[in-house]
Amino acid sequence: MSTPLPAGSLRDRYCKMAKANLKFGSRFSTGLKIGEDTGYDSGSTLDFVYRNRPESQGVVGNLIDRQYLQAIGWRGIRVRKTHIELLLRKYARKLSEARRPVRMLDIASGHGRYILDAVAAFAQRPASVLLRDYSDINVSAGQKLIAERGLSDIAQFVHGDAFDTASLAAIEPRVNLAVVSGLYELFNDNDLLRRSLAGLQQAVEQGGYLVYTCQIWHPQQEFIARALTSHRQGDAWVMRMRSQAEMDALVEQAGFRKVDQCIDEFGIFTVAVAQKL
Ligand SMILES: C[S@@+](CC[C@H](N)C(=O)[O-])C[C@H]1O[C@@H](n2cnc3c(N)ncnc32)[C@H](O)[C@@H]1O
Repeated sequence: MSTPLPAGSLRDRYCKMAKANLKFGSRFSTGLKIGEDTGYDSGSTLDFVYRNRPESQGVVGNLIDRQYLQAIGWRGIRVRKTHIELLLRKYARKLSEARRPVRMLDIASGHGRYILDAVAAFAQRPASVLLRDYSDINVSAGQKLIAERGLSDIAQFVHGDAFDTASLAAIEPRVNLAVVSGLYELFNDNDLLRRSLAGLQQAVEQGGYLVYTCQIWHPQQEFIARALTSHRQGDAWVMRMRSQAEMDALVEQAGFRKVDQCIDEFGIFTVAVAQKL
């Protein structure tokens, strides 16, 4: 899907037209404007999808927003959010029952809304929440959300590269509830994932949990690859599907044992949990 279509072919013309339509639509629709400006896979786009309401000025823009938010992929992303929240609640409770203070980490948080929403539903506040992302826009938006939620005493949002083993390994104190969501499917190279997982393995204390997502299928994968731009300098957004077995093997090779999993009703996104051995 990274290979360009034959120039002038019917499919090539169709995809170029779809791309032009999205650009034109972004004059009216806030959702499309965020996608065109920051990438359709950016933290800002995901935050718009999580807010899940039309936010444009005019009627046309709001109609586009409404339809855009109903795309099957975005519906799946919202189910993924609820699954992450559910599993975070479940494993935070287990840690609390074992009298271990809950220390959370997310290595590519976007705006961090799904983590902060999860925390709001915990029976007990966690001891700490460390959110990281490599984009300035996301770090500022996340810091603002933390302040709005009154969580500044336990939560912080910092810059960080999710593939930098050393910087993840240096996280102190060690955490026991780590999250990596919506990141690995943006990258084809498994060596990058191994680097990230090796860092996570060191950041998580023994017996702690890693919540990780996987994208096993997408009904609109080709349309997305050909028509939508990514957060990486506007390159095409070519998703790297992984079978669950491939993703689980990478996590297990890094020193974790899988203990749980949820999947949406469309069969697109899974959220799994593994425990550090
Ligand atoms: C699809 S979004 C997912 C956001 C969030 N984790 C979620 O599930 O809603 C991908 C996120 O990965 C971040 N990202 C991409 N490469 C990164 C890197 N090398 N280090 C840290 N964050 C990165 C992007 O800035 C973006 O916020």
